[in-house]
Amino acid sequence: MAAPVRRDQELELTIDRLAYGGNGVARLNGFVVFVRRGLPGDRVRARVTKVQRRHAEALVTEVLEPGSQRVDAPCAHYPACGGCRFQDLAYDAQVAAKHDQVADAFQRIGGLAAPPLEPIVPADDVFHYRNKLEYSFTQLEDGPTLGFHKAGRWDEVLEVEKCWLTTDFGNALRNAVREWAKGERLVAYDQAEQTGYLRHLVVREGRNTGQALVQLVTARGEKFDTAHFVELMRGFPEVRSLHWSENDSPAEVTNLPTKLLWGEEAIEEELGGLRFRVRPNAFLQTNTAMAERLYGIASEFAALTGEETVYDLYCGIGTIGLTLARSALTVWGIDVSEESVACALENADLNDITNAAFFAGNVGQALEELHGRSGDPDVVVVDPPRAGLAGKALRRLGEIAAPRIVYVSCNPTTLAGDVKRLRDDYGYELLRARPVDMFPHTPHVECVALLERSQAPV
Ligand SMILES: C[S@@+](CC[C@H](N)C(=O)[O-])C[C@H]1O[C@@H](n2cnc3c(N)ncnc32)[C@H](O)[C@@H]1O
Repeated sequence: MAAPVRRDQELELTIDRLAYGGNGVARLNGFVVFVRRGLPGDRVRARVTKVQRRHAEALVTEVLEPGSQRVDAPCAHYPACGGCRFQDLAYDAQVAAKHDQVADAFQRIGGLAAPPLEPIVPADDVFHYRNKLEYSFTQLEDGPTLGFHKAGRWDEVLEVEKCWLTTDFGNALRNAVREWAKGERLVAYDQAEQTGYLRHLVVREGRNTGQALVQLVTARGEKFDTAHFVELMRGFPEVRSLHWSENDSPAEVTNLPTKLLWGEEAIEEELGGLRFRVRPNAFLQTNTAMAERLYGIASEFAALTGEETVYDLYCGIGTIGLTLARSALTVWGIDVSEESVACALENADLNDITNAAFFAGNVGQALEELHGRSGDPDVVVVDPPRAGLAGKALRRLGEIAAPRIVYVSCNPTTLAGDVKRLRDDYGYELLRARPVDMFPHTPHVECVALLERSQAPV
């Protein structure tokens, strides 16, 4: 049957709920339309942007009657800026929607009629919570400036004067770099033309230590007075580590080799009473306060007594493993990023933790070797990227058959799929799951899940 709508058609729709990813869901005689910028309860006019056999996509052109949970967004750049999606949805409604999305993923993808889902943990602070921001340079008539990509645009950057997700320090530093770039008459890189010089600015803040790391990314060549830039950055007492990277490829990346312009190689952050060294390319959860809550739930689910061998897979800089090491016999971590593993090893030393070891490698390939070296684990913690456990990593994990798996996930849809495979192929049952909102005003939601083996592998 043909779809009942066509591209560019204007529709009047009522938004029922938010789908995972942030679009409103409406139905037109049963046919599903995903509506960008539609919030629950809204009556909207929307233009169809894409039509598929089973559903269509549309963009709100006018809110005819606002839903009862709409609020005023405080940020002057909202909704043009691509950083936040829901500043105009009451926070209670945001967390309720995220909780429902996790439940829906377990039901639909995980095949669990009644998932053992516990109430979502809301964020402590709904603004100013990020400890890392990556800005892009763009060229305006009066010179280069800094901001974020416009919502839905990879090719256009919006100048930002005040971002509500960072701190006063973060805003002041970014604006100072903007004025410096103008004063130096430098030119922003143009992605389409692949010309120009200034590309990105990355700012990381140890929120519990007050230490900041700054990384400037340019095209190839030293076209600025580094001493002057160092002097400017040293004007901010928080800045402890100043790096410069050159990127001569068209790819918009910041994960690059860095040259230390001034200060320490790394900064420190404190989480759960432990100190962590953070280098420019190492992974650190971007909401420090909620990372502590997330790790607290992972510790509770791991239920260690001091006798256990624990694996920390996708360990990053060792934050989860070192948190657990205090209550375990041994901890063994794997991460593909050598820079993160170098930090994890330093972090063990920094905290006088001697029962944790970390190795660089791809989990799918390195897990077997680790198993040979460490023996059977009692608890395996996994914290993979959004794609979840890749086929080989999941198979190896299932074959190792640890009694208990604690799965920390940033994507409920891949979590639910992995839970289903661990149940169907390896006899694991989902016992508990707790969503955590680390990223207010965005569609992202974390979830910690506890799985235990109820039967021998099939
Ligand atoms: C979501 S982060 C979790 C890091 C850490 N557990 C934390 O809480 O800070 C995912 C980590 O997986 C690592 N990673 C991605 N793919 C991997 C793979 N195939 N094998 C091992 N590590 C991988 C990344 O380098 C990153 O540090």
